[in-house]
Amino acid sequence: MTRALVFDSGVGGLTIASALRKAAPEWVVDYAADSGFFPYGVKSDAELQARLPSLCATLVDVAKPDVLVIACNTASTLSLNDIRARVSVPVVGTVPAIKPAAEQTQTGVIGILATPGTVRRAYLDDLERQFAAGRIVIRRGSAGLVDIAERAVRGQPIDQEQVAYAVKPMFDPPDGPRIDIVVLACTHFPLIRDAIAVACPPGVRLIDTGDAVARQAIRVAPQTPRPTGEAIAYVTGGAANKAAMAPAFARFGYETIEIIDV
Ligand code: DGL
Repeated sequence: MTRALVFDSGVGGLTIASALRKAAPEWVVDYAADSGFFPYGVKSDAELQARLPSLCATLVDVAKPDVLVIACNTASTLSLNDIRARVSVPVVGTVPAIKPAAEQTQTGVIGILATPGTVRRAYLDDLERQFAAGRIVIRRGSAGLVDIAERAVRGQPIDQEQVAYAVKPMFDPPDGPRIDIVVLACTHFPLIRDAIAVACPPGVRLIDTGDAVARQAIRVAPQTPRPTGEAIAYVTGGAANKAAMAPAFARFGYETIEIIDV
């Protein structure tokens, strides 16, 4: 049996953990939230580059997974190679689903909804050049949506007006009205998919990367025999964050929570 560690800044990666548990029900899927440093989407590249590789090395030392899944677009589009260089297990990243969106669009115009950090990444420029030549790609960064998702999973109501405020400018003229596919390029966003769908014009399709990341994790993970164990959720930021995250973890089946001091 395989043990995976799914990592994100907060609750967003729980969408990827769910997809992985569905695709590989026999796996133990541990989870780590860097709540002490949340949110990533408004941090500078330098701050994230200084933290991510060493944090992931610590997490791998503690959780001892067979595969590490970076369930965060903001982290993956910046630091995937640096993280790979620091850990000895296979690392799977989560990056915006530009390729399928560019293949499937009927109008030739796609939207990328992500964090402010992800929308300004050179990594996205490369993905566009490689997979979306001849398409119009409209990027929209929102830190507000991340916050709304984080609070929604902890049981707070979703303010639809705030969601609309974050989403609607993507559909502004001249090209916005022709968007037919929106890529949910932040793992927090599938948690509020219905509210985002309501804020989009009718007929717009939302796609995310959960299933694709799960498939890739299954492809690269070594098949090591291991004893069955309980899945553990790790959290940074001390006891206050442990308490704040407990309801979200419980909703996704994590009862054991351990604090990581970094
Ligand atoms: N869930 C993360 C992502 O996929 C980022 C959320 C944050 O800003 O921390 O980009």
